[in-house]
Amino acid sequence: MIAVATIEGAREALTSLPRPLGFVPTMGALHDGHLQLVRSARDTCASVAASVFVNPLQFAPGEDFERYPRDPQGDATKLEAGGVDVLFAPPAHVLYPPGFSTGIDLGPICTAYEGRIRPGHFRGVATVVAKLLNIVQPDVLYVGQKDAQQTAVLRKLVAELAFPVRVHVVPTVREPDGLALSSRNVYLDARQRAAAPTLHVALRAMLEALRAGEPVAVARERALSVLHPLAHVEYLDVVNADTFEPVERLAPPVFVVGAARFGSTRLLDNLWVTA
Ligand code: PAJ
Repeated sequence: MIAVATIEGAREALTSLPRPLGFVPTMGALHDGHLQLVRSARDTCASVAASVFVNPLQFAPGEDFERYPRDPQGDATKLEAGGVDVLFAPPAHVLYPPGFSTGIDLGPICTAYEGRIRPGHFRGVATVVAKLLNIVQPDVLYVGQKDAQQTAVLRKLVAELAFPVRVHVVPTVREPDGLALSSRNVYLDARQRAAAPTLHVALRAMLEALRAGEPVAVARERALSVLHPLAHVEYLDVVNADTFEPVERLAPPVFVVGAARFGSTRLLDNLWVTA
C-alpha cells in the first residue's frame, strides 16, 4: 500500500492503477463496517483507494471534532491488510487551504433529520466528498447504508453534478446483538452499551407494526415501548429512500430511520425496506 498526504502525491499514485478503481472515503478509527466497504471494493474492482480524513467542515460548533477517535497507525495497518492500494490521508490544510470557501448545498434533504440536528453537516459532507472524488477520480464510490441519509445526499451529489462514478451502497455491519458498528460506539459506558441495541430492536418493532398496516404514529409508539429508558429519542420515522421526505405509509423503497442519544453519544440506525 502507498500512503500519500498531498493532492499531487495522490494523483501520481493513482494514475497507474488498473481500472476499475473503487474508492472508500472514511474518517478513520476503522472498524469492521468500514472494512466491509473495502472488501466490497476489493471483490469487484481491480484497484482500491481509501481516504482517512476527519473532516472539520462536517462538524458543527460544539460537536465532537476534537475528541473524535483517531488511530492513524491502526487504520493504515487495517487498510493494508484489507488490500487497499493507495491510502490518502491529508492534513486539513491540504484540502482546505487558507481562504477556502466553497460549500455544496443540495437543498431540503440537507436540512431534514440529521441535517436539522446538525446544521451544516451535509454541506460539509457533500463538499469534502466532491473534492475527494475530483482528486481520486474513482469508477465506484463505496458508502455504507448505516448512514442512510448521507448515502442519499451523496447519490444526489453524484447525479446532480454528473460525477462520472457509480455509487455502491453496502449493507450495515452489526454487532451480534444488533448494534450497528460505529466509530462513536467507543464513547458508550457499560450501561449505555447494554441499552444501545434497543435502537435496532425499536426500528424492527416499528417496521413490524407498519407491515401489519398500522399508521406511522402507532408504529412509532410501538418502537418507543421497546426502547431502553436510557435512550433519548431524537427521531423515529419512515422516509422516502431518495428524498428523505416523511411518508404516511409503507411505500417502498423507504427507510425506517431512528436516532437516539445515550448520554452524550448520538447513535443512528435504519432499516432499508425495498418490498
Ligand atoms: P465514517 O463515519 O468514517 O464512515 C465511512 C463510511 O463507512 C461511510 O460510508 C459509512 O456509512 C460507512 N460505515 C460506517 N459504519 C458502518 C457499518 N456499521 N456498516 C457499513 N458501513 C458503515 O461517513 C463518513 O465517515 C464521512 O461522513 C465521509 C463520507 C468519509 C465524509 O467525510
